[in-house]
Amino acid sequence: MFKIDVDNINGKTESLYVYGEDSILTELEANNVLVNHSCRQGHCGSCILKLVKGDVVHQECLVPLSQGEILACQSRPVSDIKITTKI
Ligand code: FES
Repeated sequence: MFKIDVDNINGKTESLYVYGEDSILTELEANNVLVNHSCRQGHCGSCILKLVKGDVVHQECLVPLSQGEILACQSRPVSDIKITTKI
């Protein structure tokens, strides 16, 4: 299991424990942490979050990302991670 430390995303700061099988977006939604999203396919960029700590794997990603940015809909944790909203 991996720990996702949520740092002030839509007012929520909490730790979630996940198996890393579902996208970070899906895991956040399952825990009532709301994140902007639209396409869920790695195309629109509305679900960009900042990865503060840890590692993720990305699937489809057609959006240019800056250092430390991830697409919540297309990434899964592969270690304990800490995420926050894009600055
Ligand atoms: S919801 Fe569109 S890129 Fe994630």
